[in-house]
Amino acid sequence: MTLATADRLFVTRRIPDSAMELLASAMPALQIRVNEFDRNLDRHEIITGASGASALICTLADPIDRTLIDSLPSLRVVATFAVGTNNIDLEAARARKLVVTNTPGALTQATAEVAVALILACSRRLAEGDALTRRGGFQGWAPLFMRGRGVFGKTVGIVGAGRIGTCVARTMALGFDCRVVYAARKTNPELEQSCSATKVDFETLMRESDFVSLHCPLTPDTRHLVDARALSLMKPNAYLINTARGPIIDEAALVEALKARRIAGAGLDVYESEPELAPGLAELDNVVLLPHLGSATIETRDKMGLMCAQSVIDVLRGREPKHRVA
Ligand code: GLV
Repeated sequence: MTLATADRLFVTRRIPDSAMELLASAMPALQIRVNEFDRNLDRHEIITGASGASALICTLADPIDRTLIDSLPSLRVVATFAVGTNNIDLEAARARKLVVTNTPGALTQATAEVAVALILACSRRLAEGDALTRRGGFQGWAPLFMRGRGVFGKTVGIVGAGRIGTCVARTMALGFDCRVVYAARKTNPELEQSCSATKVDFETLMRESDFVSLHCPLTPDTRHLVDARALSLMKPNAYLINTARGPIIDEAALVEALKARRIAGAGLDVYESEPELAPGLAELDNVVLLPHLGSATIETRDKMGLMCAQSVIDVLRGREPKHRVA
């Protein structure tokens, strides 16, 4: 008699314990292997780690491309610990009938919080003020000292009106009495009703906004959407905020615009060649730089892990997973 071989799962980075516990209790026979290094793996290392596995839990930093997919013929499901899927070749996955899942909804508020935090940090010079205070630069209150720009009543331009964009728009409209304009492929009636937002074209949004906040997915159409030309449309007092994906901005063009003070500043959580920064970016004082921590709350990362674990369990048990993108 031949015994059925147990399914194997490879996890490319350590994920919260709650997800590992769900996997172990729902599928005690599942053989789980987790990347033991405290760093991201390259394609070759993922292929080696996942060899023979039927399930893979990956992150947004892993290149799940055609070569990798073709090298792992026993794979049945890839559950990405993210909402964005730009690092995954969905066409190659579909052609192979490989199921791909993501974690929509789990990180909406957490990411929106960071976008709002960046709006405040840039305009009210919070990071600059913190650095100055630490190095002993606070010499006492003065009327002209560290003046930034207020947020109340300003115009916020939301690019990409999905869950996160809608959440940022509502927060800014309800919390700061901001006027909201948005640019998106489809009209978003919820956004229009909840905060009197107006849909405009991208160029109008760039011209009219005091804060431009990016919330669209990275696709061939949105790569370098914010290039030198788009930046030149912005008001000199305006700020650019990116919590979506780095390559939506031409980062070299942004460095030039910031250096020349053609815009007031930028708040970035994501970068074009993450984790590298474009030359000159880190030296500028009119930019706030975060290390891609939009979804980094304990609650959100727990939810994301549980969603990935549930997707793996569903597919390996022959059920349709809830959050399937391919
Ligand atoms: C985070 O950036 C995500 O896409 O989940």
